[in-house]
Amino acid sequence: MRTIFWKDCVWLIDQTKLPEKEELIACRTVEELIGAIKRLSIRGAPALEAAGAYGVALAAFEREFSDVDEMKRYLVEKAKLLASARPTAVNLSVGVDRVLKKALEGESVEEIRKIALSEAEKVAEEDVERNKRIGENGAKLLEDNDVVLTFCNTGRLATVDWGTALGVVRSAVEQGKRIRVFACETRPLNQGSRLTCYELMKDQIDVTLITDSAVGIVMRKGLVNKVIVGADRIVRDGVFNKIGTYTVAITARYHGIPFYVAAPKSTFDLNKTEKDVEIEERSREELIFCGNKQLAPRDVKVYNPAFDFTPLSLVSAIITEEGILYPPYNF
Ligand code: MRU
Repeated sequence: MRTIFWKDCVWLIDQTKLPEKEELIACRTVEELIGAIKRLSIRGAPALEAAGAYGVALAAFEREFSDVDEMKRYLVEKAKLLASARPTAVNLSVGVDRVLKKALEGESVEEIRKIALSEAEKVAEEDVERNKRIGENGAKLLEDNDVVLTFCNTGRLATVDWGTALGVVRSAVEQGKRIRVFACETRPLNQGSRLTCYELMKDQIDVTLITDSAVGIVMRKGLVNKVIVGADRIVRDGVFNKIGTYTVAITARYHGIPFYVAAPKSTFDLNKTEKDVEIEERSREELIFCGNKQLAPRDVKVYNPAFDFTPLSLVSAIITEEGILYPPYNF
């Protein structure tokens, strides 16, 4: 099943319910979709690209319009809200902008609806195809019996299907290579333990769950020999990805373990550098509570950035749908 699809409105797998329940939710308005993006019911850069794209289509269908100009103004306004729902992954605004630009070429309400939906479907379709190509390219870096450490979730659930970093593992396994995975739990929202372990076990790919703080011992003991992670935005001087990625990259470098990033070209934002990108800060509650259980004093000061930046000097290669990039990265 695809992570996100259109059937009269936008449907998505509610990732906040996993691994306990695989539940679909319908977003019938842009506001509902923005809510789903903010609470991470849909998440992961490529899945957000599709969500942004479908979101603009949703804006075209969610109400009636008295004329085309009113509709176009409405689409522009909703596109702005969608694109700013989460600031760090560039893919969200890539998906929004692509469909908006195409839709604004339409000359009637009906034509705009048709264009917006067909462009959004293309965005989703292309994501699956490019992930398969990322997988095939990246699988060349994996050998039989490799053990890959990964962070956060970069699989089917973070994309429309297949995955980026986990797509590489999937492709290698499909080619008959025996690959094992160590998945970091990825505190505080546990995309690694809840989502990566869930989807790899479903596909019968060997996965071992570790705490984020076990990365050092796992590398020191030689339990993994490669790292592959995804990316939310690749800028001229480095890679933004889930908080904790930077620490994994430093630890990998210390232990001489290759650190690979897998991402589609739409994640590249090469007019920017580290200082131009906003790192999303999430709520204090994510650290103070785990479900209903209180884990810290209610009034404690909290710093909860959702992403961090890894300089290119720590990245051994970047795997894209167009091939593998190696240092020095001449973007
Ligand atoms: O906050 P999230 O769960 O949206 O963060 C996701 C990540 O950081 C992923 O590693 C990244 O988006 C790549 S997904 C193929």
